[in-house]
Amino acid sequence: MGGWRVPRYDYPGQYPGLAGSLLPQIERLLLDGDYILGDAVSRFERDLADFLGAHAVVGVGSGTDALTLALDALGIGPGDEVITVANSFYSTASAVARVGATPVLVDCRADNYLIDLDAAAAAVGPRTKALLVVHLYGQAVDMAAAGELARRHGLLLVEDCAQAIGAHSGASRVGTDSDAGCWSFAPSKNLAAAGDGGAISLRDDRHSEQLRMLRHFGQAAQNDHRMLGYNSRLDSIQALVLAHKLPHLEDWNRQRSQVAHQYRTMLGDLPLRFQQCHDDKEHVYHLFQIETERRDQLMAHLRADGVDAVVRYPVPLHLQPAFQGVARTGQRPEVSERLAQQTLCLPLFPSITQEQIDLACGSVTRFFETAHGA
Ligand SMILES: Cc1ncc(COP(=O)(O)O)c(C=O)c1O
Repeated sequence: MGGWRVPRYDYPGQYPGLAGSLLPQIERLLLDGDYILGDAVSRFERDLADFLGAHAVVGVGSGTDALTLALDALGIGPGDEVITVANSFYSTASAVARVGATPVLVDCRADNYLIDLDAAAAAVGPRTKALLVVHLYGQAVDMAAAGELARRHGLLLVEDCAQAIGAHSGASRVGTDSDAGCWSFAPSKNLAAAGDGGAISLRDDRHSEQLRMLRHFGQAAQNDHRMLGYNSRLDSIQALVLAHKLPHLEDWNRQRSQVAHQYRTMLGDLPLRFQQCHDDKEHVYHLFQIETERRDQLMAHLRADGVDAVVRYPVPLHLQPAFQGVARTGQRPEVSERLAQQTLCLPLFPSITQEQIDLACGSVTRFFETAHGA
């Protein structure tokens, strides 16, 4: 990960109080042997439910599994269609296909890069069972509008919250106003494990027992397998890591937001477009996107300057080989295709220094001021 003047992440910076607090807890766990679904997991589940304002949280092995188990628990399967968005990460659609349903990939909006709910409404058909929205890059989808659409058509509503922990839509945090909120704690996420981890947040009790069984071989008790389950438990060591970090999340998200404001201000006069967000509480800036027709040249320029920019995502889901013959689209998702070619992410993490922000902005500015930008 070294060698960059402006790196993409600062993993070591996420461990305040490591030696005095987290390491002794991990040592105790290693010696206690409480490795699978022990106290550490239930404690973190409660902490996260409190933080979100959710009724319950069920910890699972990854964000991909959170989506898959949630869809499974909600009874989505072969013959069903789930409407979701072409501008997302692979797992959003793969989870739908994994439970045997068909992902229907609609376009995103050109202004906020999030699922176009009008396109979603137009895609509803007799087989549609659920709407799966994605709070992409850290910005909340309008959950009041999504909820209204789901109610109007009698659909289940599921949220892919992997990138948006802490973001609000209206008065609530994302992941609390739907049939299931699905979380990833992969290392790059705003709240990150030291490896894989995930969770499902629930607004009531209807599916919590079923999900607890599903993640644990479908067992109600040892050797009593009530349903076709999975082996997908949030790991106890990861639960300790996550519980250690959770109290810092609000501060870290605030710092991310301040960096994003600086980027918008410092780059505001350049021929760039940004993901539009009208309320600070709606965005936790997992990723900071900039959009330009000269994306590939700018990307090469930034990387040559030591700025570890990255493209998320270079191929929209409907064009990924894995989804050919598996997913379908209605109207061609043209905005998603354009964003795949014209956006890149600038480094953004809570401990980024002013010097690193200046370096990244200086590099972008020079690109547009010199022959590269012509
Ligand atoms: C939008 C989105 N959905 C789902 C996932 C899958 O999460 P995981 O990597 O924990 O399986 C990720 C992250 O990787 C993601 O960014």
